[in-house]
Amino acid sequence: MAHRIGIIGGDGIGPEVVAEALKVVDATGVSYTAVPYDLGGTRYLATGEVLPDSVLEELRGLDAILLGAVGTPDVPPGVLERGLLLRIRFELDLFVNLRPFGAPASALNDGVEMIVIRENTEGTYAGEGGFLRKGTPLEIATQGSVNTRFGVERCVRFAATLAQSRPRKHLTLVHKTNVLTFAGDLWQRTFNEVMADYPDLSTGYDHIDAACIHFVQQPERYDVIVTDNLFGDILTDLGGAIAGGIGRAASGNLNPARTGPSLFEPVHGSAPDIVGTGKADPRAAIMSAAMMLEFLGEADAAARVQKAVSGSDDISGTTSEIGTQIAERV
Ligand code: NAI
Ligand code: MG
Repeated sequence: MAHRIGIIGGDGIGPEVVAEALKVVDATGVSYTAVPYDLGGTRYLATGEVLPDSVLEELRGLDAILLGAVGTPDVPPGVLERGLLLRIRFELDLFVNLRPFGAPASALNDGVEMIVIRENTEGTYAGEGGFLRKGTPLEIATQGSVNTRFGVERCVRFAATLAQSRPRKHLTLVHKTNVLTFAGDLWQRTFNEVMADYPDLSTGYDHIDAACIHFVQQPERYDVIVTDNLFGDILTDLGGAIAGGIGRAASGNLNPARTGPSLFEPVHGSAPDIVGTGKADPRAAIMSAAMMLEFLGEADAAARVQKAVSGSDDISGTTSEIGTQIAERV
């Protein structure tokens, strides 16, 4: 049966890179129905709508969602992040944000081959907090970090199961347990308890600041990493930078229980500085589409796309030329 895939091109280079990703998916021969959605900054500026409830309900019925990027310079910060991206993550319970990084050995490191599992529905992103006396000299803003035993445990279990399926079977917890002694304590205890069920895994722990050093100087120490929402957000931008650049970094926002669709998107944003120039690298979007194919059970097609992208260093040209050549190799 054809997969029903929601397509949110979004703003800026989003639609440009998603078009190339679909070109490559077409080349695999996998049968799917594209269901396009006009969402993002452009729509918000035109109509004031961010994510109408009726659209959210439609998204629930899809098999997967492929998103380019959202954001235009005229939209105030937070409107699309909270109203669209985070709302979709929370409402569809996409509690795992999976970001793979791979790059050959270089002068700087012995090679990067790791996956970061970022908790995707809690932490400082949960929206806890508020203002008091806003706009006055006495104003106060708080933004708490929400960590539930349930939320941490399901994320750690996903990461552990993933690590178990990989040759190195190594899982590292990244947090800041020495300073965030409440949230960090819950994470560490949950991690330790879950590990009792995975005796064949070797484990490690790094503080987030130290992890930033190791990412650059010895990323080969990592196999699978599990971390909280904010640390994961920052660490994965660094991951992109050490593994081929932001034009290569792909991600999946997963609902592992499969009670609804999962959402796949490049890590990068809408890059308004290069929109329309043909300079956008479509590889991150293409790799995100490959992750989507794998999640949909199309392992063979996914592997063909991954192989074509990882061997595509010799390909240069415009966004569309790169997409066409990768599609031809698939
Ligand atoms: P950005 O990722 O859009 O751009 C950062 C830099 O990387 C820019 O110099 C850009 O030209 C370059 N870049 C990004 N993607 C590239 C690609 N595929 N190929 C070549 N170069 C690429 O981040 P920025 O500038 O902070 O944000 C721009 C807009 O995107 C903002 O409105 C922001 O809110 C939004 N954004 C949206 C995200 C999403 O939809 N998930 C994620 C991050 C940012
Ligand atoms: Mg980010």
